[in-house]
Amino acid sequence: MDKVNVKKAEGKLGVLVVGLGAVTTTFMTGVLMARKGLAKPVGAMTQYDKIRVGKGADKKYLKYDEIVSIAKLDDIVFGAWDVYPENAYESAINCEVLKEKDINPVKDELEKIVPMKAAFDKNFAKRLEGNNVKDCKNRWDMTEQLREDIRNFKKENGVDRVVVLWAASTEVYVPINEKVHYTLADLEAAMKADDKENIAPSMCYAYAALAEGAPFIMGAPNTTVDIPAMWEMAEKTKLPIAGKDFKTGQTLVKSGFAPIIGTRCLGLAGWFSTNILGNRDGLVLDEPANFRTKEVSKLSTLESILVPEEQPDLYTDYYHKVRINYYPPRNDNKEGWDNIDIFGWMGYPMQIKIDFLCRDSILAAPLCLDLVLLSDLAARAGRWGTQRFLSFFLKSPMHDYTKNEVPVNHLFQQYVILKNAIREMGGYEADQEID
Ligand SMILES: NC(=O)c1ccc[n+]([C@@H]2O[C@H](COP(=O)([O-])OP(=O)(O)OC[C@H]3O[C@@H](n4cnc5c(N)ncnc54)[C@H](O)[C@@H]3O)[C@@H](O)[C@H]2O)c1
Repeated sequence: MDKVNVKKAEGKLGVLVVGLGAVTTTFMTGVLMARKGLAKPVGAMTQYDKIRVGKGADKKYLKYDEIVSIAKLDDIVFGAWDVYPENAYESAINCEVLKEKDINPVKDELEKIVPMKAAFDKNFAKRLEGNNVKDCKNRWDMTEQLREDIRNFKKENGVDRVVVLWAASTEVYVPINEKVHYTLADLEAAMKADDKENIAPSMCYAYAALAEGAPFIMGAPNTTVDIPAMWEMAEKTKLPIAGKDFKTGQTLVKSGFAPIIGTRCLGLAGWFSTNILGNRDGLVLDEPANFRTKEVSKLSTLESILVPEEQPDLYTDYYHKVRINYYPPRNDNKEGWDNIDIFGWMGYPMQIKIDFLCRDSILAAPLCLDLVLLSDLAARAGRWGTQRFLSFFLKSPMHDYTKNEVPVNHLFQQYVILKNAIREMGGYEADQEID
């Protein structure tokens, strides 16, 4: 097979993160600690996973960077925006995800990461009070200011490649409006007309990133790049986009567990998922309009794995409910509890209970690293538009809903897509062999 022309990951890689809260500071601290050999990047596929290449007697298992050029942790330079002015060290301490002993060895480096002023509108996250916010004439000006930030960051740090990752709070739900979100021309016109209702600040970040040659990843459930106008922008700029919503705890379990029910042809009567968490993410999600964005994302997972139209006897009318409850004593240590009502032979009911006592940011940090490194890889490989191979990392994978395309939510199918993309970019044949 012809080798795909993938540019080498040479020089530094700028990683600009929107939001310098729990997830981001855990991600940054872990990368900086791993660089010093003081922590292991556990959970990051790009650092650990091995993919089989070749078949039969020729097969071998290689790490991603043995198959294709991937940026090294040492080459990453971090920057961020946030509504609050605290630097990454202060924020990491305040978030209380990591112990001080795991933060202090990289204190100097974290202190240098001072957030740039945020592109923010309180109507999109009412519970945030910070004042490290840009003064913008309108949404177009907001975008222009963000573009300037990206250009300055590149210049000051001597980086040619930048990836922009949204790990900021979930914005209120922005319903897709065909008059604004379907074409790039309409989107730009709405930004210029300062359409505050339809243009979320996150859209300004995404537009600015793409306009400045940076792939954009949406780690929250916001619809930001999941609109045809942004697909057009990604096509115009020939850049990758990925989203939405990091698949960390409960939905990871769901997308891995639902296939057990589906594969074994058991029936599903209902699936009730509840969460308690007490970090700032939980506080923002306690606001119904912000929770709505998350709910839409979390609910979408089951529908394409256990499909009523395909198996009416087994999956018609199952009741799927997702709840998130703000409960401060738990801070970042979320409890995700699932009650699954299934039925078997002759319709007899059974129950499965899963109680995942997890740590939200500990699960999200490796996803940030993988999404950033693999989006940079995709850009160097000349792949643009929605990166379906990154669905593995996302709760609500982007797909072309205007053409009724069905997203792949099944964790193991997503893994096959991921492996094949890495194989192809490395010049190996994509295949469906069992490993
Ligand atoms: N941790 C997980 O398991 C997980 C999983 C999926 C998605 N997420 C999403 O990741 C995001 C980050 O989570 P977190 O726990 O770090 O939250 P957090 O509240 O600790 O941090 C988010 C930060 O974003 C900042 N922010 C909000 N709007 C901004 C804007 N317009 N520009 C710049 N900064 C802005 C806030 O001030 C805050 O400091 C949330 O949207 C969350 O829903 C997290």
